[in-house]
Amino acid sequence: MEKEKPIGVFDSGIGGLTVVKRIASYLPQEDIVYFGDTARVPYGSKSNDTIIDYGLQDAKFLMHKNIKALVVACNTVSSIALDQLKSRFDIPIIGMIDPGARMASLHSKNKKIGVIGTRSTISNQAYSKKIKRNDPSLYVFERACPLFVPLAEEGWTKHKATYEIAEEYLLEFGKIGIDTLVLGCTHYPILAEVIQYVVGKDVKLIDSGIAAAESVKEELERYNLLTNKFAIGNQSFFVSDIPMKFKELAELFLGRPISEVQKIDVESLTG
Ligand code: DGL
Repeated sequence: MEKEKPIGVFDSGIGGLTVVKRIASYLPQEDIVYFGDTARVPYGSKSNDTIIDYGLQDAKFLMHKNIKALVVACNTVSSIALDQLKSRFDIPIIGMIDPGARMASLHSKNKKIGVIGTRSTISNQAYSKKIKRNDPSLYVFERACPLFVPLAEEGWTKHKATYEIAEEYLLEFGKIGIDTLVLGCTHYPILAEVIQYVVGKDVKLIDSGIAAAESVKEELERYNLLTNKFAIGNQSFFVSDIPMKFKELAELFLGRPISEVQKIDVESLTG
């Protein structure tokens, strides 16, 4: 039955596990198949053409797993390749940008929104275009924070260096006086405590994973694809490389222990 198929989720690496965590708390009965392209991370500093190729391969791999919906749990791929993915595959596809932009637009009271993301997401102005389309009177200030991904992957969630780098990156947001900051990369929720400390407690952080999890629920409802099961869903994890410390980090991102992770060769499987 269509409804009982899993939801496919992919990211360039393990950042998308923060999105899996959110989907699982919204939709605990759903089965989830995750693919993290850990051999080729980071995507955020690569060219648009490469990011599109990788995104199509990642999606193809998950399509072989017979999924009912696809979540692109990578802002970088969502900002560049979502239209190609939607035209290629005939299932509901949920990206990160629209839900995060909508949540930020609705939340901001003083109409000053900050966005942080990878170089690619920021240079493509993925969020600012969407936010301004929602409400042209909103002011959006975007900044790439490329060092946040390696800091998150290192598990340096509260390290002194993380505070110092966050201060450097986020200083200008304080001067501008934003009241809302979009965490436009799925790795960043891991560093949320430091980011919140640096921007101040009055700034609302928008976790694009929470916004996307709400959209997944809406889409599954719309297409009558919500599972009928009552039991807690199964989760399976595939990666293109198993780096050192992988399990420890994956558990940090996911917020719970994981049992098995399988390594696959995405290029030879998807040709
Ligand atoms: N997790 C990816 C994102 O949401 C960024 C990591 C990368 O650069 O590959 O954009």
